[in-house]
Amino acid sequence: MPNKTQAPLLQVKNLKVQFPISSGAFFKRTKKYVHAVEDISLELREGKTLAVVGESGSGKTSLGMAIMRLIPVSSGEIILDGDNLLSLNNEELRLKRKMFQIIFQDPYASLNPRQRVGEAVAEPIRRLGMDASQIEPIEEIFSLVGLRPDQMHLFPHQFSGGQRQRIAIARSISTRPKLIVCDEPVSALDVAIQAQILNLLKRLQRKLKLSYIFISHDLSVVRHISDEVIVMYLGKIVERASRLKLFTKPKHPYTHTLLMSSPSMALRKNERQSKKFILKGDPPSPIDLPKGCAFAARCMYAKEHCFKERPLLENVEANHKVACFYPL
Ligand SMILES: Nc1ncnc2c1ncn2[C@@H]1O[C@H](COP(=O)(O)OP(=O)(O)O)[C@@H](O)[C@H]1O
Ligand SMILES: [Mg+2]
Repeated sequence: MPNKTQAPLLQVKNLKVQFPISSGAFFKRTKKYVHAVEDISLELREGKTLAVVGESGSGKTSLGMAIMRLIPVSSGEIILDGDNLLSLNNEELRLKRKMFQIIFQDPYASLNPRQRVGEAVAEPIRRLGMDASQIEPIEEIFSLVGLRPDQMHLFPHQFSGGQRQRIAIARSISTRPKLIVCDEPVSALDVAIQAQILNLLKRLQRKLKLSYIFISHDLSVVRHISDEVIVMYLGKIVERASRLKLFTKPKHPYTHTLLMSSPSMALRKNERQSKKFILKGDPPSPIDLPKGCAFAARCMYAKEHCFKERPLLENVEANHKVACFYPL
C-alpha cells in the first residue's frame, strides 16, 4: 500500500484531451482533432495551490474539466488520493466525486435562477447521497463564505456578482472536498471584489486543508494565490516553477513576454515600455500542431532549430522546468 500522506494529493500523468472534429467536404470527410491538452503531467500536494496560466485557448479549461472527469480523456492517468479516476467504474467515481469540485468564472450561469441558493448549496450533498453526519450544516457553510445564514432563502438574482461567487464557493465546499479546480473564479469581478474572493479562497484553504488548481489568464491574480505555477501554451506546459521563481526569473520567452505585457507586472519599468514585449499574432492551430516549438513563430529569440524540433520540459534548476532550447 502506498503511503497516502506522503504521496501528492493529485498526480496527473501524460494527460491528453482531444476533441474530434470533422473537416473536408461532405463526401470526403476526414477525422481530425483539436489537441486541447497535449501530454500534461503535474502534481499537487495537500493544502497547496497550483496556478495554471496561459492565453485564451491554451487548454486550461479542458485540463480542469478533464481532471474533474467532466469531459472525456484521450489518454493518461489522473491519480487522486491513491485512485486513478480513469479506471474507476461509474459507481466508484460517483462516491469519489465528493472529494473534488469545480468553481467557474460565471456563477450566474451555474446557478439555477429558480432555485433558492440554500438548496443550490445543498444540491451536491444530495446528489452524492451523503448523510448529515458527513457534512457541515448549510447555515455554517454560509457563515464560512461570509454570507448570512438567513440569505439561504433568497434567489441568485438577489445577490451581487461577488456574493454569487461566494455561493458557488459554498456549494463547492459543501461535500468537504480535498481538491477544488477554480476556473477563472475572479475574472468577471471588479478588482476590489477580486481581492475579497481571493482572500476568502485562501482563508478556506487554511481552514479546510484544501488544494487548489487555480486557472487564470491573468498573472497579476496568480501572483496573489499560488505556490507553484505552470504556464500553458497550445495545450502544453512550457514552464513550471515556484511562484517566486516564475515571477522573478522566468526562463521561457513566452512567460517573460506574458509578464512584460501585463500592465501591473513588468519586471522593470523601461522594459515594460518597450514595444517588443507585446505578443503579436496568434498561436498556431491546435488542429495541426507545428513540428517544432509551438511558440517559435512568435518568439523573438527563435533560431532555425526551434522550428524543426520540439523542446522537452526539462529542469533548468531544482524545481524549475522549462521547454525551450534557449532558456533566458
Ligand atoms: N467542446 C469542444 N469541442 C471542440 N474544441 C474545443 C472544445 N472545448 C474547447 N475546445 C478547443 O480546445 C482548445 C482549448 O480550449 P480551452 O480548454 O477552453 O482553453 P482555455 O480555457 O485556456 O481558454 C481551444 O482551441 C478550444 O477551441
Ligand atoms: Mg478557459
